[in-house]
Amino acid sequence: MFFNKLKALAALALAAATTASACTLQQVTSFGSNPTGVGMYICVPAKLATKPAIIVAMHYCSGTAQAYYSGTAYASLAETYGFIVIYPNAPTSGGCWDVHTTETLTHNAGGDSLGIASMVRYTITTYGADTSKVFMTGTSSGAMMTNVLAGAYPDLFVAGAAFSGVPYGCFAGASAWNSQCAEGELIKTAQAWGDEARTGYPGYAGTRPRLQLWHGTVDTTLYYQNLIEANKQWSNVFGISWTKNNTNTPLSGYTQMIYGDGTQYVAYSAVGVGHTVPVRESDVLNWFGITGSQFPSTGSGTTASVATTLQTSTTSAPVSTTTAPSTNTGTIDKYGQCGGEDWTGAGTCVAGTTCTYSNAYYSQCL
Ligand SMILES: *[C@@H]1O[C@H](CO)[C@@H](O)[C@H](O)[C@H]1NC(C)=O
Repeated sequence: MFFNKLKALAALALAAATTASACTLQQVTSFGSNPTGVGMYICVPAKLATKPAIIVAMHYCSGTAQAYYSGTAYASLAETYGFIVIYPNAPTSGGCWDVHTTETLTHNAGGDSLGIASMVRYTITTYGADTSKVFMTGTSSGAMMTNVLAGAYPDLFVAGAAFSGVPYGCFAGASAWNSQCAEGELIKTAQAWGDEARTGYPGYAGTRPRLQLWHGTVDTTLYYQNLIEANKQWSNVFGISWTKNNTNTPLSGYTQMIYGDGTQYVAYSAVGVGHTVPVRESDVLNWFGITGSQFPSTGSGTTASVATTLQTSTTSAPVSTTTAPSTNTGTIDKYGQCGGEDWTGAGTCVAGTTCTYSNAYYSQCL
């Protein structure tokens, strides 16, 4: 009895902590072209800014819009700063974003990226949002999608922040999971990576989204080499080169790598950190120019109050290294997800394919 009361109390305290001053998550069902059926969830703060900024916040594999809403601090920061957050929800049962098809990699050609672009266009129109303040961020699969959108919709996004992703086009191909890329074995020249990113929107000559990338050096899901490849890609796209390193920035063990003058591209390596690089919302908002000094994002000093809010918030990307076999019934098509951390779907692959382990988060019918 006493224990139950304690649990109830704990639940109450948690509910209070998450709803105190966070915007409310609401689904939008009709927002324009959405060929793959990406779910749209939006969080509009009670105190909406005039000509508000938009942040698209994208979840990891097996995650959901709801999980990223409650696992990051953007919903409460939206109330503080008056911006809108869009939380897209991946349409596949495995909750990974389509970052591999030609459609998703190409401007206005389809795939999950078009659904997300439509959400942004809808939100700009519906809420009179400021097109010079449209931002994107994500973790893992959501970080990969951030890179995809930077290549395919450079006209729509002004800046992005990606935690543990891969370069634009790194997963390109028939299969939803690309082990060669994930394991850091897809090595290209800066020119080749840059050319690939430029195929996302052929002929586009406008401004491209400023990018801030984060990656752990001991990531065994999407290997650290992917940050090195992304550094080549985006520095080529921006036509800039590495300038300097700031060690122990924004915290001990992290190295900030500045490219050019630091206004277009900045990368962070997190020494000894695995796939779960904690989301640093204060540095992201700084980079977006919503708070603080904007260039370069040093993560210290200017946003003390935000930083305080965020101390307790880390992104809840799954950390378990075991994969429980699914016992649900049903058959998964070729290339579909059939297992992985938190996988609740079926585990039987269509005839001719077998459920193949990729990593703790993902098994696929191949
Ligand atoms: C800059 O930092 C990165 C990440 O720690 C490191 O790999 C690279 O060698 C550094 N570059 C220089 C010139 O120190």
